[in-house]
Parts: sequence; C-alpha cells; structure tokens
Amino acid sequence: MAVIPVAIAGAPYDVRIEAGVLARAGEYCRPFLRKNNVLVITDHNVATKWRQIVSDSFASAGLHSDWLVLPAGESTKSWEHLSRVIDWLLEQEIERKDKIIALGGGVIGDLTGFAASIVKRGCGFIQIPTTLLAQVDSSVGGKTAINTSAGKNLVGAFHQPALVLADPLALDTLPLREVRAGYAEVVKYGLIDDPAFFEWCELNGLDLLAGDQTAREYAIAHSVSAKARIVAADEKETAGVRALLNLGHTFGHALEAETGFSDRLLHGEGVALGMVLAARFSARQGLMAGQDAERIATHIGTVGLPASLAGLALDCDGRRLADHMLHDKKMDAGTLPFLLMRGIGKTFLASDVDLNDVSAFLDEELART
Ligand code: NAD
Ligand code: GLY
Repeated sequence: MAVIPVAIAGAPYDVRIEAGVLARAGEYCRPFLRKNNVLVITDHNVATKWRQIVSDSFASAGLHSDWLVLPAGESTKSWEHLSRVIDWLLEQEIERKDKIIALGGGVIGDLTGFAASIVKRGCGFIQIPTTLLAQVDSSVGGKTAINTSAGKNLVGAFHQPALVLADPLALDTLPLREVRAGYAEVVKYGLIDDPAFFEWCELNGLDLLAGDQTAREYAIAHSVSAKARIVAADEKETAGVRALLNLGHTFGHALEAETGFSDRLLHGEGVALGMVLAARFSARQGLMAGQDAERIATHIGTVGLPASLAGLALDCDGRRLADHMLHDKKMDAGTLPFLLMRGIGKTFLASDVDLNDVSAFLDEELART
C-alpha cells in the first residue's frame, strides 16, 4: 500500500495505491462527499467486472450510487458522449461542490474529468483508474480531453481530481494486451530520468505482466511518484519539464495516425515503438550509444510490445509518417519539439530537429526486416 501526494499548487491530492481498494472505494471517497448519493461514470466492460463490488462498497459506506455506463472504446471520448454525460449530470442535479466518480481507463477518466471541468463552470471528480495506463499516467496530473474529427485530445482542460484510487487487483480482469500497452508508460519513467528503474523493468517486467502483485504495486507506486514529481514542477506543461512525459509520443502519434487510431496499434503500443524510434534516432544523430538504443528495443520486444516498424505492415514511406507529425498538437510556431535521449534515463527536449532527417531515418527503419 502506498499513498503518494501530488503537490499541485492550489489543488493538492493523494493517489492511494492499494490492492483491494475498489472494494473499499466508498470508505475512501466518503470524506470527499457532502451528500449520501454519488454519481459514477464508467464503461460497459468495467461495469461488467467491477460495478457490483464498487457499488457494494459505496452502500457499505452509506452511499447510494447512480451509474452512467457508456460504451467502451476511444470513440466514447467524443462531443456526443460529452453531451450525454453533461445532460445526465444535470438531470441528476449535480452541484458544484459534488465529486463525480470516474471508474475506468483513460477514456472514462479523460471524458469524465473534462465534463467535470465544465459542468456548472467546474465541479470536482475522483479518479478510480482500472487500466495500468490510467493508474500510472492518465489519472494523475489533471489532463482531460475529448477527441474531435481534427484529431485526438484537441479539446480539453487541465482539471485536477480530488483523489485517485488505484487498485492493482483491477488489472486481473484487464486483457493482457491492454496491460502491456500500459506497461510502456511504466518503462517511459525509467527512460526519462531513472536508469535504475529501467533496470528494475528489465528484471521484473515479465513478472509484472504475468500478474505478480508485488511487481505491479511497486511499478504503479514508482511511476505515480515520478509523475507526481513532474506535474508538481510544471502543471500546465509550460516549463519544459512535463513535456518529458511525451517521450515516444511524437513517433507514436504519427504511427497511431497512420493506423487510423484503431486497434491495429493501441496508444501504449505506439508509445513503446515510439520510444524505440526516439532512441534509434538519437543514436543515428550521434547523441546516444547505439547499444543503449538496442537495449531499449530488446526490452520492449522481450515483453511483447512492438519494437520495430516491420510488424505493423505499413504501406507508406518515411515522409508520410513525418508529415503526420506536422499535425501534432505540440507544434510550436512551426517547429516540433522532439524528445531525444543522450542515454538511458537522459531524455531531453530538442527543438532543432529537422523533419527531413526524421523522414530519412524512418525510411531506413521501414526497410529493416
Ligand atoms: P481505455 O480506457 O479505452 O481502456 C482500455 C480497455 O480496457 C477498454 O476496452 C476498457 O473498457 C477496458 N477496461 C478498463 N479497465 C478494465 C478492467 N479492469 N478489466 C477489464 N477491462 C477493462 O484505454 P486506456 O489505455 O486506459 O486509456 C487510453 C486513453 O487515455 C486515450 O484516450 C489516451 O488519449 C488517454 N491518455 C490520457 C492521458 C492523460 O494524461 N490524461 C495520458 C495517457 C493517455
Ligand atoms: N501523459 C502526459 C501528461 O500527463 O503530461
């Protein structure tokens, strides 16, 4: 069990990581609630596995819960479902000081958090993340968003939760492919600035994926501590610190765009391959040792995540992938800040990357078998 403070100025909160916390959610949420009823937003898959346990825990704490169960999947982060959520919250007579519960993965957390940030000009919410990705990344730090026809996460707000409850046991019902995708974000913290944690991943990653609870709890707590430190230093990503969390995302985003943001490549899988490409590109630019880049690729491949472009069977060239990067929301006055590495745990923000070099590099990677 670990309780990790997130010291955001003006909006501090705790992340409680505890096996079995879903069954005690009512007890931990109770001090944050002013009424005896609570509004819970979740998706169909999570409701099937966890609704009874969570609603029983609310009942044990003397709370009646009303539930909105949305379809599972990325397409739920839409105007249509945002509008549905807002209408439902207003029908339920939500008040500004209420706290909405987001029970689910990053999709439910991002959508519910955004709805909370705008309904009645902003009310509170509690994150109960049920995927590894949401437990180690999206539930912490207050980024909320929906997607539009122009791209992913283009409409949103910074809105911090009042509490985060992460239950490693929730991962027991999560498909292995989704656990792996979340694991990419765990490895990311090692690669950013913590080489000892990357070594821990090399030693324990397979156990974590096989269901080892000690490894899961340690990885979640370590990742949340890293994220808490970073977002407390740069909540709104304006000081060049929080941007480090985007390691692998520029390459990954281009690959997600090329594969149509579909099940062909989950977000975490794109990040995994994106980190390998960022490392290999850094090596190609003479910034980091090639053997370090290959060490990263080996670990990503060993745990079953994509470590090369070959497996994606893309029908495009490097220029096309680089062009996707021009639509990245991190574009800044015509330049794209890139996260590169000087070694494992030595990630830095480079602002002078030439997309022609990236395109040539991607052609080489596409030609590898
Ligand atoms: P997700 O929410 O779609 O969950 C993945 C799948 O797992 C879904 O089918 C879901 O129904 C199912 N699921 C969730 N918990 C389960 C459980 N315990 N048992 C069985 N099934 C379960 O996806 P995700 O990977 O959690 O999140 C991806 C989203 O997060 C993307 O929209 C991405 O943009 C966003 N994101 C946000 C941030 C942020 O800082 N806000 C960071 C990273 C990613
Ligand atoms: N997931 C990136 C961030 O929270 O900034």
